[in-house]
Amino acid sequence: ERTGKTEKYVAAIDQGTTSSRCIIFDHSGAIVAVDQREHRQIFPRPGWVEHDATEIWSKVQAVVAGALAGAGLRADQLSALGITNQRETTVLWDRVTGRPVHHAIVWQDTRTSQLCTELGGADGQDRFREATGLPLASYFSGPKAAWLLDEVPGLRARAERGEIAFGTIDSWLIWNLTGGTDGGVHVTDVTNAGRTMLMNLATLQWDPAILSAMNLPAAMLPEIRSSAEVYGTAVGQLHGVPVASALGDQQAAVFGQTCYGVGEAKNTYGTGSFLLLNTGNRPVPSKSGLLTTMGYQLAGEPPVYCLEGSIAVTGSLVQWFRDQLGIIASAAEIEPLAASVPDNGGAYVVPAFSGLFAPYWRSDARGVITGLTGFVTKAHLARAVLEATSWQTREVVDAMFQDSGVRITQLKVDGGMTANHLLMQHQADVLDVPVIRPVISETTCLGAAYAAGLATGVWQDLDELRTHWKRDTQWTPRMDAQTRDREFANWRRAVERSFGWLA
Ligand code: G3P
Repeated sequence: ERTGKTEKYVAAIDQGTTSSRCIIFDHSGAIVAVDQREHRQIFPRPGWVEHDATEIWSKVQAVVAGALAGAGLRADQLSALGITNQRETTVLWDRVTGRPVHHAIVWQDTRTSQLCTELGGADGQDRFREATGLPLASYFSGPKAAWLLDEVPGLRARAERGEIAFGTIDSWLIWNLTGGTDGGVHVTDVTNAGRTMLMNLATLQWDPAILSAMNLPAAMLPEIRSSAEVYGTAVGQLHGVPVASALGDQQAAVFGQTCYGVGEAKNTYGTGSFLLLNTGNRPVPSKSGLLTTMGYQLAGEPPVYCLEGSIAVTGSLVQWFRDQLGIIASAAEIEPLAASVPDNGGAYVVPAFSGLFAPYWRSDARGVITGLTGFVTKAHLARAVLEATSWQTREVVDAMFQDSGVRITQLKVDGGMTANHLLMQHQADVLDVPVIRPVISETTCLGAAYAAGLATGVWQDLDELRTHWKRDTQWTPRMDAQTRDREFANWRRAVERSFGWLA
């Protein structure tokens, strides 16, 4: 009896780059219901990517309704709601009307590349790295907000008067969920704030020097809170449910994969891929092109930091192969097509669509396909598309070792692309370590639910959550070292060809 009176459930909203999802979990961490809806990707110019935040909010409301209906539950049977979200994507809205003043600028958008170069000045890309853990790159929110204040007529004056609110998607959703113009709370958590390039990693507060360098008024910023506490109470269809966690999606996956110990790592394969390694209570600076970022912070406890290897394009390369090239009709078709040939036929695809993120941080990079001969077929290209994901991950794992001295002995994985056995086998082969997927591979939502459940007493502590993690599939390496080294060298040569397309 799923709707038994005594059992309480926890809901999580995962607002991602291409879709929004709501999952309801029971006390054992099992999935009771899921609903998911896509939203529009708006590409006004090459390199620009926008979302309509109003559309996102209505899709989120729809998936909440869908999940409640699917579970046969009422809002009062939910103990808590957790939020997780695509990170960095920037929304500015009018506090009085509740309306966004412009489309949201998505994390993949490169329009601020020039602005970032200017902000670096004589100090270059690492000007704010010590304070924020991040290199100056178009990926992060602060410069996106600065661009909007510069470009939308009259906006800067309104922001200075306190009329405009800034938020990453977590803030936008929490504000709306808790009442919007009618008393909504304007908050964010440390993991999301840490991706704006405006939060100081040591103080966990907005950094006044950076705000002034980017000319951003403090009046527009949300309050920074822990990742697991009650920020407010929902109104509307979730009336009375405590909104009790917020985590960037990659950090939520760390939490859902129960990577609570130093040295534990996970890789999530979504539109991009993001490998995070728990480094404990102190931030570890990177010299190898990784980000120093927040892992999570429980209320009243010291924060946990991570090193992160961010890869902008992995799953979205398969989408591009499907939608823009039309070589396959569905994402699932790529695996049999790739498996119809024994190797890549000499072809390599470097998907530098947003420049290259970790470990290169080259905004001048653009995508290339190398090694073409008349021999290469669409099946070889399908293979090269999949291999682009595992090689980019290999480069991030190498950087992790250089920065931390931690050599991973296995990789916990999750996300949509882990359904692709050919890819996961190649991933194990090129890393030369086992790749392991848990039974609940919806770790992003699970992590947000866990954090919300901890904040409201549904679960007692991290040890209890750890007992939920169960292995489902393991891929064991079987590529010989010679092939691995030769292929990796070819990949690196292809990467070099992607540099220098934009001044
Ligand atoms: O930093 C961007 C990341 O949070 C997006 O995640 O799952 O949409 O690829 P995803």
